[in-house]
Amino acid sequence: MQSNVALKPIAAARLHVGIIMDGNGRWATRRGLSRLRGHEAGVEAIRRIVEAAPDQGVGTLTLYAFSSDNWRRPKAEVTALMGLLRFYLANEIAALVRNGVRLTVIGRRDRLPDGIAAAITRAEAETADGATLHLRIAIDYSARDAILNAAARAAGAGPLDREAFADLITGEPGLRDVDLIIRTSGEKRLSDFLLWEGAYAELHFTERMWPEFEADDLADALASFHRRERRFGGLTASAPAEVPTF
Ligand code: IPE
Ligand code: IPE
Ligand code: MG
Repeated sequence: MQSNVALKPIAAARLHVGIIMDGNGRWATRRGLSRLRGHEAGVEAIRRIVEAAPDQGVGTLTLYAFSSDNWRRPKAEVTALMGLLRFYLANEIAALVRNGVRLTVIGRRDRLPDGIAAAITRAEAETADGATLHLRIAIDYSARDAILNAAARAAGAGPLDREAFADLITGEPGLRDVDLIIRTSGEKRLSDFLLWEGAYAELHFTERMWPEFEADDLADALASFHRRERRFGGLTASAPAEVPTF
């Protein structure tokens, strides 16, 4: 309804949701399966959530798939994860295009195994016209490194405001700050994810392991988000405000 839209501009806008997809390994080992099977089941969960997100008012979805600290894992696990990534990029593009999903990948590309950076570039080009959902997958990603790199680029550029600096961090001019960060598996930490963009993000922690995360779980997280009052430092629910001049 028009009046609702006018009254609740933030709720009515298409949200930016970030998900720390955690718990693949524990989900698998509890079932007597290899950790790799957990990561495979995690890819299924990605498919479900990417499909469900647009109907739940999500316009941008940032998924944390591999952190820059995940290189510290055993080589066999890293190799398996990179294999899954290669598989996803090779097999998912047609479905993404069909569903109007624009894919971008954030994080470093220079340390990925041969061919993956090129596959990412191709996938981004092929999905560039998607307007239903902006899917951002974070691979070899570190929020602190993203901020550090932006600072290095900003040095000598003269005074910058927050918006201009944010554009340097995200590489995506005008990207909406993240509204809601979900972390599965019961851990309650950010693990170097969207530290700048999430300055005012609502946080939602669930005991569900990522491979068992369903569309209904996303709906529950969003319902809890919509019940909260976002004040952005003010006293009433509001959008981030301009500072008045006195
Ligand atoms: C998340 O699941 C996937 C990645 C970090 C790649 P984990 O692999 O961290 O699963 P747990 O935390 O060990 O259960
Ligand atoms: C965070 O999960 C990274 C991803 C989900 C890709 P981790 O499992 O690596 O995080 P920590 O080590 O528990 O903080
Ligand atoms: Mg984990």
